[in-house]
Amino acid sequence: MAESRLLRSDLIAPLFVAEGLTAPRPIESLPGHHQHTVESLVAEAAALLDVGVSAVVLFGLPGVKDAVGSGASDPEGIVQVALRRLRVEFGESIVLLPDLCLDEYTDHGHCGLLAPDGSVDNDATLERYQAAAVAQADAGADLVAPSGMMDGQVGAIRAALDAAEHQDVGILAYSAKYASALYGPFREAVDVEIIGGGDRQGYQQDPANRRESLREVALDIAEGADIVMVKPAVTYLDVIADVAASVDVPVAAYHVSGEYSMIKAAAANGWLDGDAVALEQLTAVKRAGADMILTYFAREIAPRLDG
Ligand code: PBG
Repeated sequence: MAESRLLRSDLIAPLFVAEGLTAPRPIESLPGHHQHTVESLVAEAAALLDVGVSAVVLFGLPGVKDAVGSGASDPEGIVQVALRRLRVEFGESIVLLPDLCLDEYTDHGHCGLLAPDGSVDNDATLERYQAAAVAQADAGADLVAPSGMMDGQVGAIRAALDAAEHQDVGILAYSAKYASALYGPFREAVDVEIIGGGDRQGYQQDPANRRESLREVALDIAEGADIVMVKPAVTYLDVIADVAASVDVPVAAYHVSGEYSMIKAAAANGWLDGDAVALEQLTAVKRAGADMILTYFAREIAPRLDG
């Protein structure tokens, strides 16, 4: 009688790959997750495929960060290296969705380039996103996933991909991305610290706003988004429901690092049943209208789900 059923095929696993590591490094705030070497990334992807999770989002940690985030668009950048390798190992059986942003690659930790006054320069950033998108597509991405919330990013990336003969590479747009405190563990995972104790309130959404998300989503679809995403998930179920009711493209939701860590920490203390809460939350995200869910629980929860 269940109206909603979470399936393995709904799940997308976020993974981290770091340049210059000799062994995978555990991420303390995301128990069970690692900054991977390319080798251990391949092993993790194989384990995911074994349990029926066939889509992965990749985040890269470059060896060197700089002001323009060079590693994001370098053909030899860590994510591009990892994409090529995963494609060789797994062929078309894996769906590769690199996250497309600059914050992991910039020495100031912002998702875009900085203007001389220290503010984020939206339009200059778009050119960097275009270069990163083409590099990721050249390396084998099926879809690119821009997460920087710059205005016009989807249109700019679509144009660049088309001009580079990558008409078949899609765009999963982080369309309604809130300026959330729930990204805390992720920033440890990718070694990102925003310069001067800054934040992303200039480009991410205000948690107090609901209708604004529909505007952001409509703009992204008009610019060519193939999938739109709401992020975080459980705190924004109303937004997921609104978006699912208003669009005719698939809707993704990102159950983010803080949502995972809270459950893990409480479970480690014996304060709640982590497996049960994880299933409940992810089912709620599906019930709200998400067609697919990015979650750090993907590998451990998949064996308990139907295909
Ligand atoms: C930006 C990005 C972030 C996350 C995904 N892409 C961090 C941010 O916006 O500060 C967060 C994911 C998570 O918390 O799990 N590249």
